[in-house]
Amino acid sequence: MGVRLVSTGSCLPDKVLSNFDLEKMVDTSDHWITTRTGIRERRISQGETTSDMATEAAFKALSSTSPEEVELIVVATATPDAFFPSTACKVQSKLGNKRAVAFDVSAACTGFIYALYVADSILRSKDIKNALVIGAERFSKIVNWEDRSTCILFGDGAGAVYLEASEDEGILAFDLGADGSYGELLSVPSVGSNEDFPFFVKMKGNEVFKIAVRTMVESAKRVLEKASLKAEDISLLIPHQANLRIINAVAQRLNIPQEKVFVNLDKYGNTSAASIPIALDEALRQGKLKKGDLVLLVAFGGGFTWGSCVIKV
Ligand code: UT7
Repeated sequence: MGVRLVSTGSCLPDKVLSNFDLEKMVDTSDHWITTRTGIRERRISQGETTSDMATEAAFKALSSTSPEEVELIVVATATPDAFFPSTACKVQSKLGNKRAVAFDVSAACTGFIYALYVADSILRSKDIKNALVIGAERFSKIVNWEDRSTCILFGDGAGAVYLEASEDEGILAFDLGADGSYGELLSVPSVGSNEDFPFFVKMKGNEVFKIAVRTMVESAKRVLEKASLKAEDISLLIPHQANLRIINAVAQRLNIPQEKVFVNLDKYGNTSAASIPIALDEALRQGKLKKGDLVLLVAFGGGFTWGSCVIKV
């Protein structure tokens, strides 16, 4: 009994915000942003909510499946439309579905891997036969557009995968973890705290950077070991898209050559929980993965949280 990846979809808002646009907003330069991060532009919602983007990605992932048939919807997001109802419930309603179990998962940029783990575990319990797992974010709403150290990094978007319980093993292994003692290095306060509105992303980028590289490498190694695989067995590495220097350092330490590493952060920046499912969808649509290939997903984010997953597509 296993779980297979059936199909994927994604949604990016039309509005492009380039590094040159940001030069007019804060004291920064295209040169600084591209050399320090690899980001050239990002997409910004013009009114699309997180659940709007999540729903569009879900419809695309369900192109050959009726939305009414979906039995489980898990949305990973740090920027939900509301405290409640959950973004997953909003997606369910917009899909016209009335039967799915629906809830959100919060693990910042690692959210999609956490959500995938939850859905995979539920599908293996045999009670539920299929699932939509979505990563969706509208970070443009929680970024301080006067803070050059964070506003240049993030973008909006959503990605979705449709999974089914199956005889074959598609999702091969996970490695997940968290260390809450690092919480203050990357955070957004909310109403339960004693902080005052507005709530913005706060990050000690340099410190996050070093721990991100080390932790992603360790997690990727553990998941390969759990799946009894070597780095050279992997057809494509899809890392969380936060910083090209982090991605290159991780790939190098795993001995995965650049041509096997998927990068799209130049176009979208860091879309947090949406980054891996958007990249997975693009990789499949661009023909970078074919049936039977092994893909390694590796994420790191606020919490700190981390997670890796190996999938046979
Ligand atoms: O998604 C979850 C995980 N998140 C991450 O993984 C993000 C990890 N961190 C990073 O990607 C990088 O640390 C950043 C891209 C955020 C920053 O790059 P850095 O090489 O670590 O730069 P820094 O923070 O050490 O800053 C270097 C200099 C500073 O100036 P001084 O103090 O050297 O004079 C900053 O004030 O760059 C300055 N700076 C900027 N300059 C122009 C910071 N932001 C900007 C900016 N434009 N946008």
